[in-house]
Amino acid sequence: MSKTTSIPHGGRLVDLTVSPDLLPEMIQEAEQLPVIRISDFTRSDVEMIGIGAFSPLNGFMLEKDYLRVLKEMRLDNSLIWSLPVTLPITTEQAKALASVPKVALVGEDDGIIYATMSIKEMYAYDAMQEAQAVFQTTDEDHPGVKRLLAQGNVYVAGPITLLQRKIDPTFADLDRTPKELRELFQEKGYATVVGFQTRNPIHRAHEYIQKTALETVDALLLHPLIGATKADDIPADVRIKSYRVLLENYYPKNRTVLSSFPASMRYAGPREAIFHALIRKNYGCTHFIVGRDHAGVGSYYGTYDAQRIFDQFDKTELGILPLFFENSFYCTKCDGMASEKTCPHDDEARITLSGTKVRAILRSGEKPSPKFSRPEVAQILVEGLHQN
Ligand code: ADX
Repeated sequence: MSKTTSIPHGGRLVDLTVSPDLLPEMIQEAEQLPVIRISDFTRSDVEMIGIGAFSPLNGFMLEKDYLRVLKEMRLDNSLIWSLPVTLPITTEQAKALASVPKVALVGEDDGIIYATMSIKEMYAYDAMQEAQAVFQTTDEDHPGVKRLLAQGNVYVAGPITLLQRKIDPTFADLDRTPKELRELFQEKGYATVVGFQTRNPIHRAHEYIQKTALETVDALLLHPLIGATKADDIPADVRIKSYRVLLENYYPKNRTVLSSFPASMRYAGPREAIFHALIRKNYGCTHFIVGRDHAGVGSYYGTYDAQRIFDQFDKTELGILPLFFENSFYCTKCDGMASEKTCPHDDEARITLSGTKVRAILRSGEKPSPKFSRPEVAQILVEGLHQN
């Protein structure tokens, strides 16, 4: 059996879960602790840390890591890391927790204790400085900046223990931790796996770049993000249905793995591309696709900024190979899928639709051209939009 060359970031996969026999006792203990209520966004981070997807992080960032990440995209120990992973609380909460050593992290919507955290540090931060470094803007219309401005002024930091996860029963079969996905790749004998991040339905352009990448590696990991996204993104349950039908009809079963990615979307463009790549390395990928405007929103980032940022890092140090793709589309003159790199024709020959335009078509009950989206996918999206 061939062996994967993928090594987790920092050399070792973190595992902060608790064995089932110890769990009842740990939950009972956690019930006695002071509580920090966490948003859905933070719950995702808690889970990602706990299952080792954010290896080498074992908790929410200390100030020395946070500041170096903002400034240099590195942790205090010099490992590449491009985005802050922090737990915000209000100044009043910080005062109340001043001499508290350990807290329970409880879902603000459901009251479930997801984790415990040992408090090592609390620090004030400059939201505007963070916004500029991470999102390259302080515009309040940017969804990431909006979130930063709405949250508390203090970060509380320290290692966590993961007690419970929130797994959607309608696609629980797609839940695989980094450890489980690594084992699966090993079992299947995949030495090289390309990861694909998405928060959108998969249209022909996505399919084209995935399959082009698959030509050169053993397998494709379709890894759709299912954590918090902005309100006008298509909900995860509808997307998952569309991925299933797409795979069933158009993808090779022995070379494609569909698994859910429980992270929240940050919309940090270039920095999030690095972050997404490092995390997919933890999940066992050797390659990672970065197309046009990866993790972008509006027009805050240049079309290929999320590719250019990789020039700042040594490929060996990153430990996962980015595969870059130019804007792709169906070209009526080429009579097939192509990209700006391979197609000589002008815009009139190219079938491209913005997300907003696609949503408008679907909302009217129509389906976009089969040259843009597979009919089976379009059907699910029309049904999904009319249910919501
Ligand atoms: S993202 O926020 O998760 O990046 P999306 O799901 O739209 O958004 O994109 C998933 C991946 O496909 C990203 O790497 C993105 O750059 C790439 N991509 C999306 N559409 C195209 C396209 N038409 N041509 C080339 N790459 C694309």
